[in-house]
Amino acid sequence: MPATRIPATLIPGDGIGHEIVDATLAALDALGAPFDWDRQIAGLEGVRTAGDPLPAATLDSIRRTRLALKGPLETPSGGGYRSSNVRLREAFRLYANLRPARTLVPGGRFDDIDLVIVRENLEGLYIGHEHYIEIDDDPHAVAMATGVNTRRGSRRLLEFAFEHAIATGRKKVTIVHKANIMKALTGIFLETAQQLYEERYQGRIAFDAVIIDACAMKLVLNPWQFDVLVTTNLFGDILSDLAAGLVGGLGMAPGANIGADAAIFEAVHGSAPDIAGKGIANPTALLLAAAMMLDHCRLPEMAMRLRRAISDTLNADGVRTGDLGGKANTAAFTKALVARISNG
Ligand code: NAI
Repeated sequence: MPATRIPATLIPGDGIGHEIVDATLAALDALGAPFDWDRQIAGLEGVRTAGDPLPAATLDSIRRTRLALKGPLETPSGGGYRSSNVRLREAFRLYANLRPARTLVPGGRFDDIDLVIVRENLEGLYIGHEHYIEIDDDPHAVAMATGVNTRRGSRRLLEFAFEHAIATGRKKVTIVHKANIMKALTGIFLETAQQLYEERYQGRIAFDAVIIDACAMKLVLNPWQFDVLVTTNLFGDILSDLAAGLVGGLGMAPGANIGADAAIFEAVHGSAPDIAGKGIANPTALLLAAAMMLDHCRLPEMAMRLRRAISDTLNADGVRTGDLGGKANTAAFTKALVARISNG
């Protein structure tokens, strides 16, 4: 019996987006993944083509499919339009950002890494309440930002993190905070975690807490002491890039934005304008995000085949892109991966 078709939105995105999305579609096609793609635009491509970094048609599509695979979207630094990524998270209440970091290529600086970072995705210092105060003739004399964490938002994310950790056989949840200095802003997150743990999770999984700066150092000295790290928005953003660095760089790090109204899968990295159009990008991060999407759609066997084929291509075949020290371009890596999937 043919598998039930799954409607899904596809946003190739900016920079290397089209290159890594093409590679991912080739792999998903070779697997026979049952997605019916609705191709949409956002980010800089949205501005150039439709005059809008997040066109209504893209939002409508995700509202219908509740599922998307997304390439990176460019956001100008300083001024310019607000991040389409942040707006997508807000529009679909994608409160949990799940970012696993696993060693795929042995022999790097750190072997056998298997960490998950769960980042709160809607609150904290990311809410965009920022302004300048003009003094004398300097319009940017003072810059101010407001961070907001709520009991409800913290609890929702923490529940997701504990449930995910237990369901996937993890041993320990570590809360990362800065409640010694930002006593209210990150204290509420720590306090909610402690209460929730005592109410519902004590005895089911281990629990501890660590301050963000110490956590960064500990991750570099001995990353194996951690299992699931759960934290607020900005700390999670920084720590997930750090964790990506432990397993070979941004080309290896996938992410899932999970929420009440939809789930959007993407690579942790951005549009890599420095290598865009050169055909040398590593598509592994987006491929691993596609594997997370298959798991989310209850297609774990297909997800496993994809992960195994990626590992075999990188390790048994030794086909690697330049960021991993290899010589393959995106097309050669994709060709080897598709051969692995087709013969696997
Ligand atoms: P970036 O992640 O695009 O690039 C950082 C470095 O990593 C660059 O040297 C790049 O060449 C390299 N790199 C990234 N992905 C790679 C891959 N797949 N293969 C090989 N090398 C790779 O970060 P950057 O330059 O700070 O941001 C560029 C743009 O991307 C910005 O407009 C930013 O706002 C946006 N961005 C979008 C994200 C998203 O859509 N989820 C996430 C992060 C940044």
